[in-house]
Amino acid sequence: MIKTVEQLNEKIAACSQALGDKIKGADSKRHIVLCGGTGCLSNHSKEIAEKFCEVLEAKGVADKATVNQVGCFGFCSQGPFVKIYPEDTLYRLVKIEDVEEIVEKDIIGGEIVERLLYEDPATGEKVTKQDDINFYKKQRRVALHGCGVINP
Ligand code: FES
Repeated sequence: MIKTVEQLNEKIAACSQALGDKIKGADSKRHIVLCGGTGCLSNHSKEIAEKFCEVLEAKGVADKATVNQVGCFGFCSQGPFVKIYPEDTLYRLVKIEDVEEIVEKDIIGGEIVERLLYEDPATGEKVTKQDDINFYKKQRRVALHGCGVINP
């Protein structure tokens, strides 16, 4: 049981380390993380997550990747989001019909599905990682910093 602030800080540090190691690929798996916020849920992110599990199983790679839903990524107009760790590739506006292609090309083939990347409206450039999207660069999440990463 946690009884002091120091114990709480140690627990937070240990959990952060474990999560960091996991998403950096320490367990040699790919991690498929889907937004489970209200906006994305209403755009079928739960069904998309279920489809990922189904396709991974059907292709015999269910042991190579995990599927989790997390909190809102904070850019709801571009959802549903799917992020692939450890590469940190972010796909947006994902539909159920896109799942098979993501599994075949990215999870199995290690190739990015370009058409599902965010496109910078100012430059037209495709952006692979969430942190490189201008919308996110100007933000610093404090209370919600684990939202979009942690499976609640
Ligand atoms: S609900 Fe998915 S980004 Fe906000």
